[in-house]
Amino acid sequence: MISRQTIDRVFEAARVEEVIGEFVQLKKAGSNFKGLSPFTDEKSPSFMVSPVKQIWKDFSTGKGGNAISFLMEHEHYSYPEAIKFLAKKYNVEIEETQQSDAEKQQTNERESMFLVSTFAKDYFHDLMLNSQQGKAIGLSYFKERGFTDESIAKFELGYCKDEWDNFTTAALAKGYDLKYLASTGLSIVKEATTPGGKGKQFDRFKGRVLFPIHSMSGRILGFGGRILTNDKKAAKYLNSPESDIYHKSKILYGIYQAKKEIAKQDTCFLVEGYTDVVSFHQAGVENVVASSGTALTSDQIRLVRRLTQNITVLFDGDAAGLRAAIRGIDLILEQGMNVKVISFPEGEDPDSFAKSRSSEALKSYLETEAQDFISFKVSLLLKEAKNDPIKKATVIRDIITSISKIPDGIQREVYVQECARLLEVSEQILFSELAQLLKKGQAAAGKQQTSAPGLAVVKKPVAVLPKVNALFLLEKEIIRLLLLYGNQEVSLHTWEDETDSNGTVTSKKVEYTNTVSNELYLHLQEDEIAFSNADFKAIYFEIIHQLNQDEKISIDTLITHPNSQIAHLVTSILMDEEKYALSDWGRKEIYVTDISKILPKAINDAVYNFRRILIEKKINEILSDVQAEKESLDLELIANYTDLKKRLFEKLNRVV
Ligand code: CTP
Ligand code: MN
Repeated sequence: MISRQTIDRVFEAARVEEVIGEFVQLKKAGSNFKGLSPFTDEKSPSFMVSPVKQIWKDFSTGKGGNAISFLMEHEHYSYPEAIKFLAKKYNVEIEETQQSDAEKQQTNERESMFLVSTFAKDYFHDLMLNSQQGKAIGLSYFKERGFTDESIAKFELGYCKDEWDNFTTAALAKGYDLKYLASTGLSIVKEATTPGGKGKQFDRFKGRVLFPIHSMSGRILGFGGRILTNDKKAAKYLNSPESDIYHKSKILYGIYQAKKEIAKQDTCFLVEGYTDVVSFHQAGVENVVASSGTALTSDQIRLVRRLTQNITVLFDGDAAGLRAAIRGIDLILEQGMNVKVISFPEGEDPDSFAKSRSSEALKSYLETEAQDFISFKVSLLLKEAKNDPIKKATVIRDIITSISKIPDGIQREVYVQECARLLEVSEQILFSELAQLLKKGQAAAGKQQTSAPGLAVVKKPVAVLPKVNALFLLEKEIIRLLLLYGNQEVSLHTWEDETDSNGTVTSKKVEYTNTVSNELYLHLQEDEIAFSNADFKAIYFEIIHQLNQDEKISIDTLITHPNSQIAHLVTSILMDEEKYALSDWGRKEIYVTDISKILPKAINDAVYNFRRILIEKKINEILSDVQAEKESLDLELIANYTDLKKRLFEKLNRVV
């Protein structure tokens, strides 16, 4: 277990905006940051980070919390993993209390798979740099390909000995479980063929050089292993098999090493292979990721989209791959990204191109050759269609299909105009074709809905608004005041009746100062007002507990409260403050008057309205009891409450 002290130090050091900034492109918006939700496919930002409060909120999913909870949500880290991640990021030394065997067993399957993968990565890397065979075969292969020591270290490249079970044996000797060696695919386990016989296990990657594949946050998900011989029968690359931690369709090779630069340059190059990525880095182009030779998936695009809206797809210089690859690009358009393409000369891939030229030459090639995807597709298809009118009609339809994938209407229009020019047809024709396609798309979407079994008519789901009553809102308001201003001092006043020597009673204004929390506490205490909502009640008690302990409210403790319901509620109350900013971003300057001037009235209103509602509730209860003939009508009781209510109204107005 990680020591309490380490956890405290991590919390002190961690900045939520820096942590989240590694995964989501954040833009400054007033005193906050905003960005696209990493949990949905949204097009306009509803994800907010408050550096002042050190919390985040995703308005599109309702998720929110602090730096730790972000890592748990986004990277699926466990709590200790998130702490460890932050400790590493902020150079906090981890003190660990010894793990018991039982605790070790508890570490779940995925964790064990990550652990063994990390061990493998280090083992293969170390073996390549330090063993005889590693240096002679693995390292010299990479060196021959022109990879520098720096690149080899940066990508943690490695080598697996050309023996049956060198790695597996080493891992087992270190205490790693064969079960996880098998589930990660690092070892291939063959069952015994005869009853009572012994099974066999051997290294999947034997005799191959290895490219470890990192997640966005740097965890080892799997490996790509390249064969060193020219054996045509064996696969050139062998990858980790699909598993609980390795999902091919959700992986982009190099995203960990590239993420900072992608966000910084606000654009990303997409290549095909492992070696393309490494070579680009070596040439000083670091905003690059590889799809690892598969057709691009929307999960992969989403990974990039967390960092930038701009993507440039690099094609190897062979025509066959080109046709297939441009199909995948519609998927990128669908996600609302801006797509450019660059193709390389015949017979070259980004790796070979980068190797044979200077860094400057590569960079200028990338700059000058980048072409807008739609125009690229038009010219490519037109070249094929030549002057065949039937083929040309097909081309037009094909292009319009691509354009119809673009979610933004204005952008679609610009493309239609551009294509009309390139295709030498009227805009009108293209627009009507586009309109038809869009209509068809909607119809198809509608059809899917109605095909649900047993549903003759599918109604559009109506958003169900939670029933909020006045009491709920008032309780929330009191909690909000406590959370936001609880520790603040305010000048207050009260009225005291004074009788002079003539026996005349006058009200005298008495001024005093108090903290918001004490003032609220005193009022609520006085009337023995209890919260009706269980969560608010729990938060309130937690706050009172804190006040009793050290006379201060600690927001942090509430945000990281073990009861996630409380943590979540506190976060959303704090973040509601920021909500206005989402709609009015940057357009309006909001001038806030001195808050301490508003607070006395806010406290007063909250407390007295709270009382008023409780009294109304009481009156209603009495009346309904009478109606149900549980009680006889006690007019005096009702009159008392009504009087109380009247006096409250007076008090409410007096302070205004
Ligand atoms: N790939 C794969 N399995 C294969 C072949 C290719 O997974 N049998 C993936 C790898 O991620 C590879 C990418 O597809 O990096 C591109 O393949 P290719 O262009 O053939 O390889 P290069 O990356 O150019 O590798 P090299 O330069 O080492 O030949
Ligand atoms: Mn290559």
